[in-house]
Amino acid sequence: MNRFSILIVDQDLKFADPAAKLLREQGYAVRVARDGPAALEMIAGLPVDLVLVNFRLSGGGGRELVERLLNRYTGSPKIIIIDCDDGGIRAELPPGEIAFLSKPVGNDVLLETVRNSLKTKGSVPGEGSSERFAALENFFPFLAHEIRNPLHAIGGAVTILEKRLDLKDEVVDRSVRIIKEEVEYLSGFVQECLDFVRPQLRRRLTDVDVNEVAEVAIGVVSYIFPGAPGKTQLVKDFDPHIPKIPANYEELKRAFLNILKNSFEAVGEGGRVAIRTKFAPGPGLVEVSFSDNGTGIKKENLQNLFTPFFTTKLRGTGLGLAICRRIIAENHGGEISIRSEEGAGTTVKIELPAGAKSPRGGSRAI
Ligand SMILES: Nc1ncnc2c1ncn2[C@@H]1O[C@H](COP(=O)(O)OP(=O)(O)O)[C@@H](O)[C@H]1O
Ligand SMILES: [Mg+2]
Repeated sequence: MNRFSILIVDQDLKFADPAAKLLREQGYAVRVARDGPAALEMIAGLPVDLVLVNFRLSGGGGRELVERLLNRYTGSPKIIIIDCDDGGIRAELPPGEIAFLSKPVGNDVLLETVRNSLKTKGSVPGEGSSERFAALENFFPFLAHEIRNPLHAIGGAVTILEKRLDLKDEVVDRSVRIIKEEVEYLSGFVQECLDFVRPQLRRRLTDVDVNEVAEVAIGVVSYIFPGAPGKTQLVKDFDPHIPKIPANYEELKRAFLNILKNSFEAVGEGGRVAIRTKFAPGPGLVEVSFSDNGTGIKKENLQNLFTPFFTTKLRGTGLGLAICRRIIAENHGGEISIRSEEGAGTTVKIELPAGAKSPRGGSRAI
């Protein structure tokens, strides 16, 4: 889905919602944020090409947001400022870089201004948002390839050694286990980074059976955490009547896998991980929930879960949930939400539209 992405930042939903609808009808990918911090978090998760900011955001957040956007070294979305009657600030801003609109904004004027602003960005959506990011997009897959080839070789060689060696020798046994664990860790690390930077090209939607994706993801995690079946109880509760949904199979698998990995990492002895699928015919949503009785999440961390590179783990990438959000909310128009209580456990819930792609899309953590 190669199209420009736009973020509308306005607490005035009478403007934001119809404007989002209008722009989506024109084929733009549109998200809405209510305030500056939410906007910056969204942009951190996925760079945007254009930001429409209400300058009168409550608490003076509009001005601060514009200044932050102008100072971003990693990306430079185009900016349209709405409702800025302050002549002073206009003079301070770089001439020609920013467009201005006043409410009420007519549909034609809005579309024209958006089109003009994006015109100067070049013809490749998403790319102009960050030169550095674009360079990374090219370089990282190359780097990943160079790391993964020897990793596969090491993994294969150690499997052969394992068969020949005397594993009753404790030192040999421990060494083999360390090599295998480290190979697994590094593969996972490279994969998460790759998923994060890889440009979204040629995304193919097919009719996907979510139960099947869940089953496959469970198979993969059981392989990654080989000791888990004895230690962690896995509960499956799949609704046999859920319809197939238009989705990208590989992406959904990746999202489920990231969530399951977090659950398995969070539970200890006596752990329990439950996966449920359900179809809600009213809103036409397929729901998938992943619950665990693991460590839970500290209240102060809830707001950061989807922020790229946020991790509480010694060797985490902090990219797993950022990738999930992109897959579920941005790419599938669904929602991902997290409920957690420290010491009690965590539930991650995904809702995916069963029919044509709906223009929802969001993430929440409570
Ligand atoms: N099921 C869970 N139980 C407890 N904490 C979780 C769970 N899922 C996510 N988290 C928290 O969210 C953070 C970010 O997760 P993620 O984006 O997957 O990155 P990573 O797993 O590399 O740390 C984790 O470091 C952890 O603090
Ligand atoms: Mg993770």
